[in-house]
Amino acid sequence: MSASLNIQLSPFAADVAEGLSSPVKRLSPRYFYDDLGSALFEAITLLPEYGLTRADERVLRRHASELGCILQSVSLVGELGSGSGRKTSSILQALRVRNPGLRYSPIDVSPAALDTCCRQLSDLALISPICSDWLDGVGQIAARRVSDKPLLLLFLGSSIGNLDRASISKFLFQLHALLRPGDYFLLGADLVKDVDKMIAAYDDAAGVTAAFNKNLLSRINKELGGHFDLRAFDHHVRWDAFNRRIEMHLLAWKQQDVYIGAIGRRFHFEAGETIWTESSHKFTELELESLARASGFVPEKTWTDLEWPLAETLWRA
Ligand code: AVJ
Repeated sequence: MSASLNIQLSPFAADVAEGLSSPVKRLSPRYFYDDLGSALFEAITLLPEYGLTRADERVLRRHASELGCILQSVSLVGELGSGSGRKTSSILQALRVRNPGLRYSPIDVSPAALDTCCRQLSDLALISPICSDWLDGVGQIAARRVSDKPLLLLFLGSSIGNLDRASISKFLFQLHALLRPGDYFLLGADLVKDVDKMIAAYDDAAGVTAAFNKNLLSRINKELGGHFDLRAFDHHVRWDAFNRRIEMHLLAWKQQDVYIGAIGRRFHFEAGETIWTESSHKFTELELESLARASGFVPEKTWTDLEWPLAETLWRA
């Protein structure tokens, strides 16, 4: 037995050890979002090339009163991966008109993100933040509900695209199992569009997304005593047409060994080898509809943005 197996690893260290030991090296995108990573993501949403977040906000704002009408019986809103909460304000505002006692539970793994979200939205609802994984958080909301009124669950910004397609089906099925008949699920999903446009959104000219990607390595350096040389890696983006997803990688442009203190071992990189850090799956409206039905939901209505093809789709359990 090697010495490293005796070290008690933190969850982050264990995931990094496993991901970098695999034949295809990978790291989970959930680790992008430390304080700097979250700030870099906020900057990404302002990039001219990255239209996703603005489209999300635009569709919600444009159709807020219609949403408020359809969802008038909702008194409790949960949100998966709330982020800063900016996208959510127009929905809460619309729901609050008919429901002054509106309650809102953002679910996020980042305490900093929950903090910002609570500060931003405190005027609009009674907020009970939940710091946990998505399904775990929905389970907590489900266990605590008191009223018979339907729940609205938000999953915006195409975060669902980070899961691979097999995991998406499983996730939606598990989510549906936690809901009651009549509950609503509002999903924001980025649609397949022009390939050059999709690639540019993840490989912006100013290099903000490259910094966001490489920050994962500096986080390993900072938190796990890693020795990554950020200059020895390139930000690498590709479109996988078969799987309909943008992939982000960190490409080692020269051969190197990298020691990570908290794991107690070195990892070898061949020149040209990559660490796969993120997939952002893109969808079609038809696919979203069949995903809904396959997991037990009834698709009620879809709104899209023409400027930046993105769908906001409302399902009912
Ligand atoms: C927040 C997961 C939706 O995949 O588009 C942005 C994250 N990564 N630029 C996405 C991201 C690179 C984003 N999501």
